[in-house]
Amino acid sequence: MSKVVPTPSAFTPRVFSGIQPSGGLTLGNYLGAIKRFVEIQDQGAFETIYCMVDMHAITVWQNPADLIRNTRELCAGFIASGIDPEKSILINQSQVPEHAQLGWIFNCVARMGWMQRMTQFKDKAGKNAQNASLGLFGYPALMAADILIYHATHVPVGEDQKQHLELTRDIAAKFNHDYGVDFFPLTRPVIEGVATRVMSLRDGAKKMSKSDPSDASRINMTDTADTIAKKIRKARTDSDTLPSESGGLAARPEARNLINIYAALSDQTVEQVLYEVGGKPFAAFKPMLADLSVAKLGPIGAEMARLIADPAEIDRLLTRGSERARNITAPILRQTYDIVGMVPPVPVGSAPWSG
Ligand code: AMP
Ligand code: TRP
Repeated sequence: MSKVVPTPSAFTPRVFSGIQPSGGLTLGNYLGAIKRFVEIQDQGAFETIYCMVDMHAITVWQNPADLIRNTRELCAGFIASGIDPEKSILINQSQVPEHAQLGWIFNCVARMGWMQRMTQFKDKAGKNAQNASLGLFGYPALMAADILIYHATHVPVGEDQKQHLELTRDIAAKFNHDYGVDFFPLTRPVIEGVATRVMSLRDGAKKMSKSDPSDASRINMTDTADTIAKKIRKARTDSDTLPSESGGLAARPEARNLINIYAALSDQTVEQVLYEVGGKPFAAFKPMLADLSVAKLGPIGAEMARLIADPAEIDRLLTRGSERARNITAPILRQTYDIVGMVPPVPVGSAPWSG
């Protein structure tokens, strides 16, 4: 695993990332995002802030009872995977109101033309874009606010978020330019490793996603050992044996995906894995992958179940996280308002109508 090194800058080295509580966690979220979050936290070179972005989730309809359950489950997933709520700041987006407040400022900085180019909006809105929520369209401006309200310098994400991070830099640059300041950092994406894009088990051309209608297409972090093994056994493959070098995976998306998953779970490179399994048929490789997956994911799933059983403790941790977060976000919001020209409130007690 490569170490993420802070780039020299005037800003405190700070990492922010978020995941939507819009369904259960998948192996794609784990390998593409959470596992990296834990590694960066444990390297200790950054302040780390990790967020359940419930305000992003409601850009498409969420049943309220599901949203609250999924948010707590996501929190359990973070902790069970190794996010330490003392070392990192762990928050729920809606409990830190400065995200939305800066989001509004950024709605006034981002341009319609920029937003119209966002491929995630086009994918999610589908053919019926007129019926999509305004929030879904404005989503990337709120995402930029999530990051920049902390002056975060680095953002670990999967490949699908690259375009949104470019937009985040564009918003920071335009704000700095329009107001003649050097206030927001140009955040760097951290998209690294062999699992930045984990694919569906049923179709090597599609991303593994919590919203795929087929449950067999993904591994959920809460799947039982039996279910994980069964899904891997049934994963789509071709009929060749595995190659000994990575070039041999080029035109074989399903084989490449399973090898990438194996490499990411075992902290090896693709070359190291192929050295071990090259020449084997899938019938021999799939049980190896199933065993490894169960060994790595089983304990996380079990710990998640234990944590979910005590939702009051999860809520307490999130409240504590938001208090810590607001020590950072409130001053940055106030400075932003000052730059923009918003009248500051008079200190409590000195207004004629108070007390
Ligand atoms: P989401 O579930 O869309 O909120 O995504 C949360 C994080 O997981 C983001 O950093 C995504 O880039 C990452 N992610 C989601 N699906 C995958 C996948 N199939 N492969 C790699 N990373 C993913
Ligand atoms: N847009 C991200 C996703 O769909 C989630 C997200 C919201 C995020 N705000 C963020 C990720 C800020 C990184 C940083 O996966």
